[in-house]
Amino acid sequence: MLVRHSAMRHLFLPCSTFLLAVGCSGGNSGLGTGSMSSTPPSTTLMANFDSIQANIFTPLCADCHSGPNPAANLSLDAAHSYNALVNVPSTEQPTLVRVKPGDPTNSYLVIHLEKEGDGAPASDVPFVVQWIVDGALPGSTAMSMAAQFRVAAVEPDTGDALRASPPRIIIGFTQELDASSVNAASVRLERIDEGAEAVTTSAIPSRAFIPGGNARALMLAPASALPPGQYQVVLDTAPGVSIRSLSGASLGVADPEAVGARAITRFSVTAEH
Ligand code: HEC
Repeated sequence: MLVRHSAMRHLFLPCSTFLLAVGCSGGNSGLGTGSMSSTPPSTTLMANFDSIQANIFTPLCADCHSGPNPAANLSLDAAHSYNALVNVPSTEQPTLVRVKPGDPTNSYLVIHLEKEGDGAPASDVPFVVQWIVDGALPGSTAMSMAAQFRVAAVEPDTGDALRASPPRIIIGFTQELDASSVNAASVRLERIDEGAEAVTTSAIPSRAFIPGGNARALMLAPASALPPGQYQVVLDTAPGVSIRSLSGASLGVADPEAVGARAITRFSVTAEH
């Protein structure tokens, strides 16, 4: 297993050379994420998502990249980082995605780290590169939550006050989604207006899509910037309408209390000063 030490420069050499340096497991390059689930939460940097989260994103990045208004609209705290990275367009360079599985050269996270560092030592970058080369697989937390189909994380979250319209709302699920169940009825963005008499909601045009390479995430992109106000994202839980996982589970079943529709986040966009 790849660990942070001085033999790092052998990382990109063929396996035979690598063998001489630190050992090489069988036909596998030895750098993969295959033993991920048996890896305890590590204090050693390795080329898998859990280790990168624990050793880079959480300690070095989440201070600026978390909360309702994360730097560059990028959350790197453990609950949100995976879904915010994999196949999500970069804010600074919208023609590129932040992490393109298998393609570190075209992953803006790598380009940004190589250019700016942003607090990560240069010797850490090859671990991120290798994780992407290996397919940018999710960590074991995502795996262990997969038993039940439910919403794992939403960004922006309930109570968040955003200084500007979010480019997208990201809903993370514990299982991969059946794309055919994603439509204007199963998931919708609404504006909440509290009138003197009653609270009313109105639908906001938006595009729902599943980013390639991360079928556990659902993105909701408003058709135009959201003006200041209160908003919610509603998932319909009615049988036949509800979003389904690839294994056929529907959201409603796991939560008998939820009938009809369920708001999974309520956030506000505040007027800019
Ligand atoms: C001191 C605050 C701060 C820290 C710490 C920080 N960043 Fe950033 N980051 C920013 C800001 C601000 C931007 C917006 C562009 C800029 O000013 O470079 C940004 C932009 C980015 C972008 C571009 C996002 C996009 O969608 O275009 C990436 C990727 C990124 N940071 C990754 C990281 C990583 C990885 C770490 C930890 C190793 C990190 N940042 C630590 C403040 C920070």
